[in-house]
Amino acid sequence: MIAKRDGREIPKHIAVIMDGNGRWAKKQGAMRIFGHRSGVQAVRDITEGCAELGVDHLTLYAFSTENWSRPQKEVDGLMNLLIKTINSELPTLMKNKVRLTAIGDLQGLATGVYKKLSLAIDETKLNKGLNLILALNYSGKWDLTQAFKVICGEAIKGTIKPEAIDEDLVSNYLSTKGIPDPELLIRTSGEMRISNFLLWQSAYSEFFFTEVLWPDFRKKHLNLAIDSFNDRERRFGKTSEQLDFQ
Ligand code: IPE
Ligand code: IPE
Ligand code: MG
Repeated sequence: MIAKRDGREIPKHIAVIMDGNGRWAKKQGAMRIFGHRSGVQAVRDITEGCAELGVDHLTLYAFSTENWSRPQKEVDGLMNLLIKTINSELPTLMKNKVRLTAIGDLQGLATGVYKKLSLAIDETKLNKGLNLILALNYSGKWDLTQAFKVICGEAIKGTIKPEAIDEDLVSNYLSTKGIPDPELLIRTSGEMRISNFLLWQSAYSEFFFTEVLWPDFRKKHLNLAIDSFNDRERRFGKTSEQLDFQ
């Protein structure tokens, strides 16, 4: 059951496609990396906001498998920013009992990034507050593909019988194993697409799109998204009338 707060239902899991950093920078005639740096303040604010509201899991799409196609300078800038941000935010994460985790093809990250990330994950692993999940070198198709590879391997060994493969089993081989699907998925910057994010896990997510560019996104916008979520009727294939009688 979703937690209630101030008469509102608070999603257990919120996922965010943090978009619009480049356009934010361009608006002020600055380099794209300046937009990414400014986006860190939004990450801080939304992480704190989710922790205050009692959200259990917050997944932030920080770097997609497709983002490697950007200019090398931007990719390097983003990776350096990640290391710097982990360093600067770690004390706050500890103070706020935030557990840092990550999903994605983490082995594909540069060694320095992977090491820093692993250290921070290890250091925060006993924290009992919000689970902050960074989606890094992540894509929904990658996630499904890696799951199929493992499942097929098990099937060949005979440890999984093909007839035993059901939706729960597939979910258990995804990188989000054990984490409930996001009830709410937010995308900033006015784009209305999933961009290869949580394809399987967002099957029944409520989507919230806003024109606000990521560096400007704050708790008040998060609250608007949660208000909108509360206005939705989640029917899961049923009729409204059926829901009234539950
Ligand atoms: C999102 O902002 C950050 C990443 C994808 C890493 P963008 O960099 O995509 O910003 P726009 O979409 O170009 O404005
Ligand atoms: C999606 O944003 C990826 C992240 C936010 C990390 P993009 O800006 O890369 O997505 P597209 O290219 O506009 O679909
Ligand atoms: Mg973008």
